[in-house]
Amino acid sequence: MTDDPAALDPADGHPDSHAPGTDPDSLRERALAALLTARTRTALLTSCVDDRELTAQHSPLMSPLVWDLAHIGNQEELWLLRAVAGREAMRPEIDGLYDAFEHPRASRPSLPLLAPDEARMYAYEVRGRALDVLDGARMDDGGDRLARAGFAFGMIAQHEQQHDETMLITHQLRAGPAALSAPEPPSPVDAAGLPAEVLVPGGAFTMGTSTEPWALDNERPAHRREVADFFIDTAPVTCGAYLRFVEDGGYTERRWWEPDGWAMVRERGLAAPLFWHRDGGQWLRRRFGTTEPVPDDEPVLHVSWYEADAYARWAGRRLLTEAEWEKAARHDPVSGRSRRYPWGDGDPTPELANLGQRHLRPAAAGAYPAGRSPLGVGQLIGDVWEWTSSDFLPHPGFAAFPYREYSEVFFGPGHKVLRGGSFAVDQVACRGTFRNWDLPVRRQIFSGFRTARDA
Ligand code: AVJ
Ligand code: FE
Repeated sequence: MTDDPAALDPADGHPDSHAPGTDPDSLRERALAALLTARTRTALLTSCVDDRELTAQHSPLMSPLVWDLAHIGNQEELWLLRAVAGREAMRPEIDGLYDAFEHPRASRPSLPLLAPDEARMYAYEVRGRALDVLDGARMDDGGDRLARAGFAFGMIAQHEQQHDETMLITHQLRAGPAALSAPEPPSPVDAAGLPAEVLVPGGAFTMGTSTEPWALDNERPAHRREVADFFIDTAPVTCGAYLRFVEDGGYTERRWWEPDGWAMVRERGLAAPLFWHRDGGQWLRRRFGTTEPVPDDEPVLHVSWYEADAYARWAGRRLLTEAEWEKAARHDPVSGRSRRYPWGDGDPTPELANLGQRHLRPAAAGAYPAGRSPLGVGQLIGDVWEWTSSDFLPHPGFAAFPYREYSEVFFGPGHKVLRGGSFAVDQVACRGTFRNWDLPVRRQIFSGFRTARDA
């Protein structure tokens, strides 16, 4: 398998992951399935509340849901109908309204947005035409770079799923009774037998990818990266563990915090993760319209980078660097190759990871034994986005594609990298190389973390 030329990074001959099926028919099928899955989710998230709630702003941090809906359609029109197929604009007058850079989220409710039915109809019409384009699109190397291997279709399915996660955050921030429901995630099978941490041997490994057909620009290219020996938590930090930091006065002691984090704690009066409150002797949390006890064994959610960093310092540990996270998630110690996922190169399944809003919460620490890495590190993919200590920076050899505003304009020390994906993101937008980023103060996102220490 390792002699497959497609698995070699042409730049330096180092092993990169094996790409999924790259014949035109299987790529077309993957693209169709990814677009349909995304639209099913979008339809649910925008039909389970009424028109008034769709157009309301539930938090100044978020767009009205109806903005996300039309923006999804508008991006699909821009990239699949206009850029790939060369079609004329359907409604050129609305482009500006749905350009995320023209209007910050807080100002979007006051724009002359399409009404819910108009937004639905627009997204539906774009989708019908996009599926025609997909039908006739060349999936082989003869196409231009945007169409090659169905990249634009994969990119647009990922974009819609990213907004489906954003819309789920809006649902979490919205007041009122539950509008969504889902079955409970699986329980851990052998949590007691799981060691708290394992040693990841240092050395070089292949970070990033040049073979994954739908990898976004910031994941490219594959390159060699060196890490030293380190110990890594086998599961994300749980609510129970985090509670010990809270009860130990973690939010009242300056010494655990970065200066800007301490300022945030003081200004906002923070004392626990977002959506938690104490009721007598018990800690409760609000989750999608219901209030429930904080579950001890579930990965902690809705913490900022500053809180994750402070907890790690209190625990005598540290966050992982992004390179450490990716080595733990991808490196196969037997073959020396970097793989697509902790369990290998095969796509995620419901037995391997908690993804795609199949459940509306992370699974308890120790769940998904089949999804563990060769060293026994669990829940790297799915459950919670994991804050890393790293700034969001380009990989060496980065080239913006197809637009600078996806990644490049966010590079720099202002944004911290999150890895691994949450229960809220679909598998099309989640893999061992996928990079997410946000401001270190953000806590409405589905963010948690795990810790490490030097060996
Ligand atoms: C990669 C999640 C930070 O939501 O701001 C959506 C994804 N980019 N539309 C975001 C994105 C353009 C982006 N994140
Ligand atoms: Fe977007």
